[in-house]
Amino acid sequence: MAFPPEFLDEIRARVALAGVVGRRVKLTRRGREHVGLCPFHNEKTPSFTVSDDKGFFHCFGCGAHGDVITFVTRTEGLSFPETVERLAGEAGLPMPRETPGERAAARRRAGLVEVLEAAATWFEAQLAARAGESARAYLAGRGVQAETVRAFRLGFAPDRRGALREAMHAKGIDDEQLAEAGLVKMPEGGGAPRDYFFDRVIFPITDRRGRIIAFGGRAMGDSPAKYLNSPETPLFQKGRVLYNLARARQAAHDTGELIVAEGYMDVIALAESGFPAAVAPLGTALTEEQIAELWRLTNEPILCLDGDEAGRRAGYRAALRALPALRPGNSLRFAILPPGDDPDSLVRTQGSAAMRAVLDDARPLWEVLWVMATEGRRLDTPERQAGLVATLDEQVRMIADEAVRKAYREAINGRIRTAFGYGAWGTAGPGPRAWAGGRGRRWPDRHRRAPGAGRFGRDRGPRSGNLAASGLGARQAPGFLRRRQEQVLLAALVNHPAQIAENAEELASVELGSPDFCDFCRALVDLAARDPDLDTEAVNRHLSGQGFTGLLRDILHADVYVHGRFARPDASPDEARNGVQDVLEGYRRRQAALEAEEAGRHLAEAMTDEALARLEAKQRLIRQGESRLDELDTLSEVGPEVGPQDPN
Ligand code: UTP
Ligand code: MN
Repeated sequence: MAFPPEFLDEIRARVALAGVVGRRVKLTRRGREHVGLCPFHNEKTPSFTVSDDKGFFHCFGCGAHGDVITFVTRTEGLSFPETVERLAGEAGLPMPRETPGERAAARRRAGLVEVLEAAATWFEAQLAARAGESARAYLAGRGVQAETVRAFRLGFAPDRRGALREAMHAKGIDDEQLAEAGLVKMPEGGGAPRDYFFDRVIFPITDRRGRIIAFGGRAMGDSPAKYLNSPETPLFQKGRVLYNLARARQAAHDTGELIVAEGYMDVIALAESGFPAAVAPLGTALTEEQIAELWRLTNEPILCLDGDEAGRRAGYRAALRALPALRPGNSLRFAILPPGDDPDSLVRTQGSAAMRAVLDDARPLWEVLWVMATEGRRLDTPERQAGLVATLDEQVRMIADEAVRKAYREAINGRIRTAFGYGAWGTAGPGPRAWAGGRGRRWPDRHRRAPGAGRFGRDRGPRSGNLAASGLGARQAPGFLRRRQEQVLLAALVNHPAQIAENAEELASVELGSPDFCDFCRALVDLAARDPDLDTEAVNRHLSGQGFTGLLRDILHADVYVHGRFARPDASPDEARNGVQDVLEGYRRRQAALEAEEAGRHLAEAMTDEALARLEAKQRLIRQGESRLDELDTLSEVGPEVGPQDPN
């Protein structure tokens, strides 16, 4: 409901701002104003100023600014209408009148709330009574303490159909009300209504103010439905509600942290282990509406994901769903639990420190997009690289907020640079800014190439370790994937040392992009030459002894395996062999191409028969395979093309 502006002004006029602020912040009078420590950021000297005359507060430290309604909204975690209602109550102002229709609906809902409250009280009593013995044992068996049972108002729906209905009738609540509250079902063929929940542990579900609006029930034995939630009612729409929001709200506000788990028991276990700011959706994926609700409480709620494939997929879907709504400052983070664990099992078996560690390691949303887009994807052909760029680009376009959209493009470009060692578009070309939408260029600007650069111009890799060491190599480096591809190759060799001997000759002459990679590769070949039965452990030991510890750590890394599963320690020998062969094959073609180019230049200089023959030989070599010559660096060509043409 929209409030009339006069009504809001009346509230601002009647409520003393310093009084309201004073409940949360210790204020000292200074002239006509009050000052204190800002509740919106961490500070040691007061820069938070309250002006009762002007009716606003302002923080000179963090820039927080607003009136009494803003202050209560932000410090109490209340929504705007709730704040207005609360302050109007304090000011003794009657709420503006609603239409008769709205009033009638509100009355009906209020009636339903009473029905649900009566049912909750009855369920609680059943749990405490003799009938509740098995349920109490069940909860105790799951480690739930009596205190928690009370705080969450857990209950029990006994094994006798009709028990709730009878008890409610005795309180003057009729079948129609029970049905509307979702507590009984009217049988299709007529006859007496039947209780919706029976023989289940009951979890009351509240709205954000703490009023009970529905129930969840867990079967204790084998039931086809482990959990059952109330049907949708005028009070309860599943996709708009978060379990435990009312209780989590203040805690989230105080700590700035808000955890989103999957189920009732997770929330309860978290609360018991010192994480009171936890909520859960009700058996469905997080909706946009729920995400918006989370953002009212904190800027970056943390979603807990099971570390298995399904959990990660769920996180990916949540990430995608959040994209359109991202605002500056508002995002999601993703805490990945060990595979097979949920927060409940983690805190119960490993304690809260383990949970703390998982939360502290939560990944930002954009990184989840990146990992999901790159994982399991081989990025060794132009088409595949273009596919990656297109995927990420499509996602970034979903972000409605322009500033966030730009920041995402920058972040992803940055990731491309650091992950692969080289910028996606080199330094001579239009650069990542082209993707960031700065210039809207459709094609990389070929005219900007360094003079003298040929067909393979700026994409040409360094020709020798010396060149790379001079710094020139890095600048002339091929596309960003080359470095990562080399890491994949080296990882495969370390994890599958049989491949070193098998390709020793070629490895001895291969030119890798950086001098330390070359040294590393040479050391591998030396080792294999000395010990034909070399195993991974020995490789690690020897190379660590030769000062390659840091490099080993970078190479034997999950980020690297993402781009070449064959390099993983658990890849089969065949996988490893084929993968290594593929990479080396790419290098052979690349080398042939470079030599062909060289030969072409010779030809232009001196049109000799010999040069012509050399060129033809090289060109034949290239034609033998499909053209995978510069497959490692073609993203530099496709990037700007498939990148978005920003309207601005
Ligand atoms: P899970 O199956 O992950 O169970 O359901 P859980 O939360 O770990 O529950 P416990 O530990 O076995 O008791 C997660 C959430 O999905 C909904 C519930 O909201 C549950 O908390 N759910 C699950 C259902 O609605 N129906 C079901 O049959 C199962
Ligand atoms: Mn569980």
